[in-house]
Amino acid sequence: MEPITIAMAKGRLADETLTLLENMGVDVSALKEKSRKLVFYSGDHSYRFIMVKPSDVPTYVDHGVADVGIVGKDTLMEENRPLYEMLDLGFGTCRICIAGYAEKEPLKNAHIRVATKYTGIASQVFSTRGSSIEIIKLNGSVELGPVIGLSDVILDIVESGATLHANGLSILEEICTCSARLVVNRVSLKTKESQIRPLIEGLKEQIEKRSNDHD
Ligand code: PRP
Repeated sequence: MEPITIAMAKGRLADETLTLLENMGVDVSALKEKSRKLVFYSGDHSYRFIMVKPSDVPTYVDHGVADVGIVGKDTLMEENRPLYEMLDLGFGTCRICIAGYAEKEPLKNAHIRVATKYTGIASQVFSTRGSSIEIIKLNGSVELGPVIGLSDVILDIVESGATLHANGLSILEEICTCSARLVVNRVSLKTKESQIRPLIEGLKEQIEKRSNDHD
């Protein structure tokens, strides 16, 4: 049988994603080796993995070249693709927040400059507000925006809060909570159901086990 393809997000979700699959009994040793390879197989070749930038996970799954994806809800909200979101995997929890210098009360400005990686979410969040908005796209180290005077606020994910704190910024508003999700291509769910369903069930079991261990 052909393997199913799983697109995995590089970066802050990668380690926990591998641990979850490993706990399910999937041999992910090929992914742990240091290499420049982009495609990997599980030991038994039942899974093919691609490791990509988080924002590219929904693209691969939407196009059907990956059947399944593991990626943050923040990225899914930003990319807004028609995928089936099947499971909250319960790790990588963070909050999407507006942050800035609290003492400057930047959200009261008539014109607000927002630096963000999440331009889609930012447009939506600020669309219903009275102020005029300028969204400035950055690809990382977004906190620099207010620090260096590029923007009045940022819209970004906050995990521990350490980056905000280290740069003298505070949360001004919390938009929502996010965590890692399992998404599935709509056609794959029908055509490869016999392979995808056991994966979903296996992941569900692991999530339940984890939450019982934490109780
Ligand atoms: C993310 C986010 C914040 C930081 C928040 O950036 O954009 O900068 O993590 O985490 P904290 O609340 O635990 O400090 P990431 O580390 O992914 O790198 P980037 O700045 O290059 O996007």
